[in-house]
Amino acid sequence: MNQVDYLRISLIDRCNFRCQYCMPEGAELDYILNQQLLTDEELLTLIQEVFIPLGFRRFRLTGGEPLLRPRVVELVRAIASFPQTQDLSMTTNAFLLAPIAQNLYDAGLRRINISLDSLDSDTFDQIIGNRGRPRWQRVWDGIQAAHRVGFDPLKLNVVVIPGVNDHEILDLAALTIDKQWHVRFIEFMPIGNGELFSDRGWVTSAELRQRIRDRWGLTESQVCGAGPADIFQIPGAKGTLGFISQMSECFCDRCNRMRLSADGWLRPCLLNETGQIDLKTSLRAGISTTQLREQVRHLLAIKPEINFKGRDTGTSGTYSRTMSQIGG
Ligand code: GTP
Ligand code: 5AD
Ligand code: SF4
Repeated sequence: MNQVDYLRISLIDRCNFRCQYCMPEGAELDYILNQQLLTDEELLTLIQEVFIPLGFRRFRLTGGEPLLRPRVVELVRAIASFPQTQDLSMTTNAFLLAPIAQNLYDAGLRRINISLDSLDSDTFDQIIGNRGRPRWQRVWDGIQAAHRVGFDPLKLNVVVIPGVNDHEILDLAALTIDKQWHVRFIEFMPIGNGELFSDRGWVTSAELRQRIRDRWGLTESQVCGAGPADIFQIPGAKGTLGFISQMSECFCDRCNRMRLSADGWLRPCLLNETGQIDLKTSLRAGISTTQLREQVRHLLAIKPEINFKGRDTGTSGTYSRTMSQIGG
């Protein structure tokens, strides 16, 4: 069984984008009220007194959009300063990234994953629901800034939606030829916008790989991934291609992670709500961190069983929380 040592921490459920597949324009979302968010102090207490003692060593900050969280640089600095922290990363849409990329790096953030669903400004704006304000260029500037500052690896996430951006697969894959970037194609999941999913469906990673193989050839990469992606490479390319295939394959048996929502719920599986616990309410009720640690230890013990049940829930698509609320 895998060592579960990776915590994905959603810092905030709000987002400055309205990606069609996640929180589309007009969708009614119940945002977490400010007083329900874990405070910086509560979050750091949970990391230091509950998760680190249980062996968690890797932390990823997610959202919504994590850069909307006030004092995000200070939070990064605090988490990076724990001697046990071995890996601190973030998943962002990069719209706010360029001006603070260096500050984040200096504070201790080392890895960054950025959503980039299209290289075409109009298509991109259509996907993210830009409300009349073109946004692609600023995201691209954020990616360039992350590259300059030295985030390594730098991963770009593409959610592939038939008829929306699947015609750009080869252009996106080609980014890895000259740049040491990691472009990952993600199978669209029915979390968030179920209607779009029913209308458009999804493309399998196998099909995408075939299209790329037909153009350039494709080799399995020597780079070993600890995450959900299967990693390949265009022969001679500097970067890699990742395929995250949660719809067509099951990678639950190598799952090494748990998720903490911005309001303090800990869930053992992205695709399954079973077993989740409300750490914030317990903490505010004065339950000791020793007791909380025992609750999390129990959840770790039953996680493998929950993972596989989650797979079933994943394909039928019934969720009370969206991706922006869970943090992906
Ligand atoms: P690293 O491996 O640390 O680089 O992160 P990652 O690729 O897991 O993180 P990222 O936030 O970039 O997520 C990319 C995609 O993978 C998103 O669509 C996630 O929802 C999906 N994903 C990440 N972890 C899991 C998981 O445990 N289960 C499933 N089904 N999908 C996941
Ligand atoms: N299916 C697949 N991936 C998704 N993401 C958000 N919603 C979905 C979905 N329904 C991705 C984002 C981001 C990552 C955290 O999750 O594109 O890169
Ligand atoms: Fe925001 Fe990410 Fe959801 Fe897009 S996928 S709306 S960037 S949280």
